[in-house]
Amino acid sequence: MHNDIKEILITEEEIRSKCKELGKQLAEEYDGKFPLAVGVLKGAMPFMSDILRYTDCHVEMDFMDVSSYGNEMRSTGEVKIVKDLNTQVEGRDLIIIEDIIDSGLTLSYLVDLFKYRKAKSIKIVTLLDKPEGRTTELKADLVGFNVPNEFVVGYGLDYVEKYRNLPYIGVLKPEVYGG
Ligand code: XMP
Ligand code: MG
Repeated sequence: MHNDIKEILITEEEIRSKCKELGKQLAEEYDGKFPLAVGVLKGAMPFMSDILRYTDCHVEMDFMDVSSYGNEMRSTGEVKIVKDLNTQVEGRDLIIIEDIIDSGLTLSYLVDLFKYRKAKSIKIVTLLDKPEGRTTELKADLVGFNVPNEFVVGYGLDYVEKYRNLPYIGVLKPEVYGG
């Protein structure tokens, strides 16, 4: 375990078997279709790669990079598009792939945007959900794991751009972020 990590919440093995389960579920739901998977950079990168390798149907992949104003631990809901999709959304079945839903503000913004762009359907798949942090009505269609209202890192999730490469989800030691 990395020296800055206080506790591992979700192990590498648990993540792997969950990705298989979710990937197969998506394959059943989109059988015979050609959905567009939209990965939200950068956090969703490992999760998207791992679930879609188990999604045995045609899937197009694209990425969106959004930054929300706020500090490095919480978003404010004011979202800025840093990198937009290269793909037309109109008439497409979208699968938004996210690392974590906290307040729900980031995804509410994206869902509204894709509705405005006339997506045919929109599903949200998130690795982690922090239901206690929610300030919006937003609900994911598929959730890997619920996590407590603590700042978590690893497997795509960062603290000031570190720890995304860890293979598990863990909680940082408070001294690492001056807590
Ligand atoms: P909202 O509040 O918009 O937040 O649902 C989603 C975004 O906030 C970040 N976030 C976290 N990032 N560990 C992180 O590394 C966390 O515990 C955490 N909670 C929220 C994340 O960027 C996510 O996309
Ligand atoms: Mg982040």
